[in-house]
Amino acid sequence: MSEPTTALVTGANKGIGYEIAAGLGALGWSVGVGARDDQRRDAAVGKLRAAGVDAFGVPLDVTDDASVTAAARLIEEQAGRLDVLVNNAAITGGMPQEPTRVDPATIRTVVETNVIGVIRVTNAMIALLRRSASPRIVNMSSSVGSLTRQSGTAGEQTTGPVAVAYAPSKTFLNAVTLQYARELRGARRSSPAG
Ligand SMILES: NC(=O)c1ccc[n+]([C@@H]2O[C@H](COP(=O)([O-])OP(=O)(O)OC[C@H]3O[C@@H](n4cnc5c(N)ncnc54)[C@H](OP(=O)(O)O)[C@@H]3O)[C@@H](O)[C@H]2O)c1
Repeated sequence: MSEPTTALVTGANKGIGYEIAAGLGALGWSVGVGARDDQRRDAAVGKLRAAGVDAFGVPLDVTDDASVTAAARLIEEQAGRLDVLVNNAAITGGMPQEPTRVDPATIRTVVETNVIGVIRVTNAMIALLRRSASPRIVNMSSSVGSLTRQSGTAGEQTTGPVAVAYAPSKTFLNAVTLQYARELRGARRSSPAG
């Protein structure tokens, strides 16, 4: 019998991340539930297992280098490789976020989580992803990251409130995703030890 596909979903203790974990689990995949809070992570893993999902908890704060390094180590021990990484964890930073009144600390915190967190996690997992025959990285963006929509030129399609931290963080993430796509286009998997 072939080994199950292994996925890691960041911010999987609730919301969309939890539902992605449940959906991947329903496909028969082994799913790492990345979450920073022990109780919330344990509760999510328990609920997923009760629903028949092969779920395992991965302590993970995407803003913390040591936490992310430890998460990669855990997945290596658990599965030896990673097939799918879903960078879902994000924060809005709270509203309102008018540009003229925003606390710069809010921008830093949101970018640290929504953009640098994705880069930090992806780079920590890249060696494990390269061991997969068909690795995939999924970055969770948002329609509010669209410059067309933010500019108000999309008519009815303009979305979200004025949000100088959250919306541009998703624009930034879109650009970062394209840079990864450029670098990794045509990437070949490394040797099993790689
Ligand atoms: N909801 C929407 O309408 C919508 C629309 C478009 C895109 N999105 C995107 O979809 C994704 C999920 O959204 P959601 O609505 O499900 O959000 P959510 O319910 O607020 O859940 C966010 C998840 O991210 C986790 N998280 C936040 N900071 C973290 C950190 N530093 N380290 C690890 N985990 C962290 C949260 O953990 P805690 O429980 O510990 O806080 C939670 O599990 C996000 O990327 C969001 O931008 C959402």
